[in-house]
Amino acid sequence: MQTLLHNAGPIAHLAGKGPLVGHIDVESQVLDSGMAILIEDHMIVKIGPSEELLEEFSNADRIDLGGKAVVPGLVDSHTHLLWDGDRSREVAWKQNGMSYREISERGGGIASTVKATRVATDQHLADIGTKRLKEALRNGTTHMEAKSGYGLDTDSELRLLEVGENLGAIDGLPSLDLTWLGAHAAAPGLSITEYFEEILSEQLPAILEQGIARSADVFCEPGWFSVEQSEDILRDSRKGGLDLRIHIDEFVDGGGGQLAADLEVSSADHAHYTNSDSRAAMHSAGVNTGFLPGTPYSMGEDYPPFAECIENGWAWSFASDFNPNCRTMSLPFIGSILVQRNDISPITSLAACTRNSAETTPHPSGLPHGVITEGGVANLNIVDCPHWEAWCLQPGHSPFFATVLEGSMIYH
Ligand code: NIG
Ligand code: FE
Repeated sequence: MQTLLHNAGPIAHLAGKGPLVGHIDVESQVLDSGMAILIEDHMIVKIGPSEELLEEFSNADRIDLGGKAVVPGLVDSHTHLLWDGDRSREVAWKQNGMSYREISERGGGIASTVKATRVATDQHLADIGTKRLKEALRNGTTHMEAKSGYGLDTDSELRLLEVGENLGAIDGLPSLDLTWLGAHAAAPGLSITEYFEEILSEQLPAILEQGIARSADVFCEPGWFSVEQSEDILRDSRKGGLDLRIHIDEFVDGGGGQLAADLEVSSADHAHYTNSDSRAAMHSAGVNTGFLPGTPYSMGEDYPPFAECIENGWAWSFASDFNPNCRTMSLPFIGSILVQRNDISPITSLAACTRNSAETTPHPSGLPHGVITEGGVANLNIVDCPHWEAWCLQPGHSPFFATVLEGSMIYH
């Protein structure tokens, strides 16, 4: 089946290979109004002037975009999708001066989410996940990396990945790329060292045998997993065939940046307090810096140094970090934080949550995504106005009129 989207407004296509770095020139990334996009099944097969494609593909189904702008399907490359419970009351604790670490020592934080998640049924977790994925899609996300990490014992971690695999198979929801984050915090009742031993001897082998996770991740941060422990877990994971990601330097510069560079992981995320030498080493090693600005937003903190990456031409992306402590699934909202609070241009911000984030999380079809290109996945967003820049300028509202998800038009 062929569908021809014609009479498009400007198309911010961002086409090309590898991450877009430095200051991005708008002209080279945006096509003028009047173009058409021909979609066959789940793929973009041709992009060209509307008059030409309307004539050449006269049998295709037609959708008149009425001059609305088009941007790629958004790619959320860091989420903690599956967990139950609610930590809203921790906000007041924070306002009374407790740190993230103190909250977790008091039994709040990750441990309380783990407790609630362990007793949730598979069906309940699937229902929550479905609801969250619909919300993400409503906000333009067409693909998502989703981590386990709120089980913290072998059976619970295996179960979260299994629920994730089932969700990823549902048509009409964003595709999923699953990551095992067993090393997210100390399991209840165990020290970090005891749990670390259990991860290596029991949990990781079971995850590898199950074969659902594509990648492994570790929360490498002073007070959680040390650089040495993170290295051991990640090296064993790689031996077992997993791709690597890592959480580093969320609260302090703990040395995770150099480890990320040494291991050449795909993406080192948070990277809020990473020193400049480690950032440069990460870039040289082909490591993406995955900023997660929703977390400092939720915690009332400053934002990471996007501009330093732009000035130095270092590869970076941003993602939602959706988790019980940072509950937005809206990449356009986070885009607004970059553009309207950090003076980053709309095109640079768009590249950071499309082409650049997609570099770290492949689409299950194996086709390019996060870009609008012939031969790429037909994942795109129709902005509800003629200006593509509007994708990030309506915080609290979805800017999208419709989303094309693997070739199917979903009207919002
Ligand atoms: O990436 N910091 C570690 N993990 C999550 C937060 C987890 C939580 O607070 O439940 C993150 O921000
Ligand atoms: Fe995270």
